[in-house]
Amino acid sequence: MLKKKHKNKPTANEEMNILVTGGAGFIGSHTLIELYQAGHTAVVVDNLSNSNPESLKRVAAILRDQTPSIDIEVPFYQVDIRDRQGLERVFANHHFDACIHFAGLKAVGESVAKPWEYYENNIGGTLTLVDVMRQHGCKNIIFSSSATVYGDPAQIPITEQCPKGQCTNPYGWTKSMLEQVLTDIQSADPEWNVVLLRYFNPVGAHPSGRIGENPNGIPNNLMPYITQVAIGKRPELGVFGNDYPTPDGTGVRDYIHVVDLASGHVCALQAIERHCGLAIYNLGTGQGYSVLDMVKAFVRVNGVDVPYSIKPRRPGDIATCYSDPAKAHAELGWQARYGIDEMVRDSWNWQSQNPEGY
Ligand code: NAD
Ligand code: UD1
Repeated sequence: MLKKKHKNKPTANEEMNILVTGGAGFIGSHTLIELYQAGHTAVVVDNLSNSNPESLKRVAAILRDQTPSIDIEVPFYQVDIRDRQGLERVFANHHFDACIHFAGLKAVGESVAKPWEYYENNIGGTLTLVDVMRQHGCKNIIFSSSATVYGDPAQIPITEQCPKGQCTNPYGWTKSMLEQVLTDIQSADPEWNVVLLRYFNPVGAHPSGRIGENPNGIPNNLMPYITQVAIGKRPELGVFGNDYPTPDGTGVRDYIHVVDLASGHVCALQAIERHCGLAIYNLGTGQGYSVLDMVKAFVRVNGVDVPYSIKPRRPGDIATCYSDPAKAHAELGWQARYGIDEMVRDSWNWQSQNPEGY
């Protein structure tokens, strides 16, 4: 790979080489496609603890189909971000303009049972990553945060000004704490550009049906549970509570198509180009849907049945959570393009083409 002279302030619309940690995972794999489509290149670092390298083969196949003249192979290192020497090897081989940092453990329930593992992996890993980055003069990072940092939100829709709240689990705290760690690092050294992206509820899959979410075991999240019921892997969906103060009593969330979320990361590179210092953006649609809205849309669009029954509320859940995404629109020109029909269509397209995942 050609080494470019390091510049911490890339000029506008510059093609960048991006270190994508966790790039074999759900959101990372979709982001690789958007990065290459926008003219950037990437190198993936992933320890494959929650992913399959097949996802990267499929990313290459999708890119090949889109531009048959170019054979794109995304360089991949099976390296743990806690492994300093492993990261050093990657930085010795490549120059990076920025890092999009997806690598982390993300199962809420597991984090309650294994808090040490979550703090060590997510916080320890990020501290090592950021240290190696700065030693190699790469001080641009886009971090995968979550709407979970708002806790029980003080206002709806949630703007970035909304105060952070009490998280209900160690996973959420790792996101909240890492936001603070990166904020402090940027404030101590203004050469850093730190973009914190607070995702709402990612669903859907690439419209090709070749890459998508591949949960281990029983899914925690609504959409993979729905698709596994639809394909017959699980008998029925449990709807966690129908007595919330929402239009139909079930929880309301801001579901966002993963391709829109992925394109948000490419747009966020503009903040780095502008030398933003610290910037925080919500990535959501601004539209809330209830659990039953999602089930009904899934059944209507895909013509498959999703049996469900009402269960007690899930501890830690809130009634309503949706974003005000105006800041990302105003400053990055980013806006979600896909609606609920595409979300449920593409989730099913992926699940039905890949009943066992990768
Ligand atoms: P994912 O599990 O599919 O992807 C994460 C990837 O990171 C996996 O491929 C995993 O193998 C890798 N990884 C984990 N620990 C690592 C380590 N120590 N070293 C190297 N690689 C490691 O998850 P995703 O849904 O794609 O989420 C990506 C990021 O976005 C995560 O940080 C997650 O917490 C965050 N996020 C996800 C959601 C969501 O609902 N999917 C919502 C908000 C935030
Ligand atoms: C969850 C996490 C949050 C994380 C987010 C990532 C909790 C408390 N929060 O958010 O930290 O950032 O995932 O996507 O776990 N539901 C059912 N039946 C199910 C599954 C879910 O009724 O089998 C309902 C939930 O009660 C909720 C909605 O569906 O109202 C969405 O749930 P889920 O997909 O788990 O996301 P969140 O709880 O919003």
